[in-house]
Amino acid sequence: MDKNKIIVFDTTLRDGEQSPGCSMNTDEKIKVALQLEKLGVDVIEAGFAAASPGDFDAVSQIAQIVKNSTICSLSRAIENDIKQAGLAVQKANKHRIHTFIATSPIHMQYKLKMTPDEVIKRAVRAVEYAKTFVEDVEFSCEDAGRSEISFLKEVMDAVINAGAKTINLPDTVGYRLPTELASMIKELSEYAKDRAIISVHNHNDLGLATANTLASVLNGARQIEVTINGLGERAGNSALEEAVMAIKVRKDIFGDLYTNINTPELYATSRLIATITGVEPQQNKAIVGKNAFAHESGIHQDGVLKHQETYEIMRPEDVGVIKDSTLILGKHSGRAAFRDKIVQLGFDKVSDDELNAAFERFKVLADKKKDITDDDVRMLITDEALNHDKIYELVGLQISDCSSGMPMAAVSIKYEDKIIKDAGLGDGTMDAIFKTIDRITGYSGELKDYKVISVSEGKDSLAKVTTRVSFENSQAFVGHGLSIDTMQATANAYIGALNSYLSQKNRLTKNCGHQV
Ligand code: KIV
Ligand code: ZN
Repeated sequence: MDKNKIIVFDTTLRDGEQSPGCSMNTDEKIKVALQLEKLGVDVIEAGFAAASPGDFDAVSQIAQIVKNSTICSLSRAIENDIKQAGLAVQKANKHRIHTFIATSPIHMQYKLKMTPDEVIKRAVRAVEYAKTFVEDVEFSCEDAGRSEISFLKEVMDAVINAGAKTINLPDTVGYRLPTELASMIKELSEYAKDRAIISVHNHNDLGLATANTLASVLNGARQIEVTINGLGERAGNSALEEAVMAIKVRKDIFGDLYTNINTPELYATSRLIATITGVEPQQNKAIVGKNAFAHESGIHQDGVLKHQETYEIMRPEDVGVIKDSTLILGKHSGRAAFRDKIVQLGFDKVSDDELNAAFERFKVLADKKKDITDDDVRMLITDEALNHDKIYELVGLQISDCSSGMPMAAVSIKYEDKIIKDAGLGDGTMDAIFKTIDRITGYSGELKDYKVISVSEGKDSLAKVTTRVSFENSQAFVGHGLSIDTMQATANAYIGALNSYLSQKNRLTKNCGHQV
């Protein structure tokens, strides 16, 4: 075990997915997991296998596809949870079960209604049972931030003796200040000595998650549990990109401590998660926000031009932000230039089909829009990858002038090589589009959320629409639409959510005979 290595445990697919509106289907989770592997994440918490058949499916698919990172499933300290976790990660090259029970007085008394002794017994049983499936078992003392140190030591002794290799001490409710957490982690790391790796998992309720993670690293923690864009329950978790870049940029403080993160992949990873979930990081978000490297004031711009380090503590390219694109695309650019641009933007694993489809769309776009920006290209290629399952496909949309008071949409959709056409009225243009699509497909969606953003500046910008729609009382599925015409993007996003629902439903029926 290298004493200077900080193990990066990413929980975007588990704690991150618990953020409102951030649920993903199996295909999307696989894409995220492959990107996390490319980013160099050591452990991917791929989900909570026992939570639902969809979660089990996603964890087990990821376990079979990802080769370099350890694949982990969360489980409560309950036999069936542990069994589901063990079965789901079984086929991974490297696998881990992460089991937990709360150790704070308030959780034990009110939530678990268990005595401290009962908690210890349950924790030990959970670790011993998890060891029957995998060698690598992590144990979390939920709400460690509000637990008594003497009790944490007792729990640690017991679960380490039962075989836990990593002890995670989460500040579950984001309550601790960095100074407090630093002294707690110092005492417990010294107590654990070489018997186990101490891990931290900090929530951001007071905006201190990353500060707490870094204070813990300086005091002995050698695993950090983090998420991309800081997604997670409530105010989120410590952001991977922030913690990793702080360790890298502040060598003067962190010395020889290092992570294996391939930092130029940070921006692409952040964009992928934001595109899939439709949840954009705030503009001024550290490292990956739109403004993270934008200098607005003349004084700052002048300084950066004279010497980059006057106002920049890291180079944009260190985190994968490409500021000055050397390859500008226009309507005369060919397929080779388009491919070069895609590779330059970090998409080196795009299939030929996705590339061809995106290139066709690029040509259409280039006829309507003078300058094609890097973000346009990034969106085109991501949109193709996310909408590859085209069970229903929009082939035509015509909307009427709604000033007449009778908004109308005529829609044609391709389904199993047939073109189905219909037209209908609605309370507004979007309502008319959705109702007509519902009639054509026979699925009546319940729109939970709708967002539109412009991909670049200018009146001719592409509109990117994200919808969250529930079908047949399912959880909400995310759909993506991208077009220079907002209503076209809207129709595509709605149909995309239906396709996502249906492909997940088909996958689960095929793989495990379950419904979504
Ligand atoms: O915040 C928390 O305590 C958790 C545990 C399950 C690790 O997410
Ligand atoms: Zn958490």
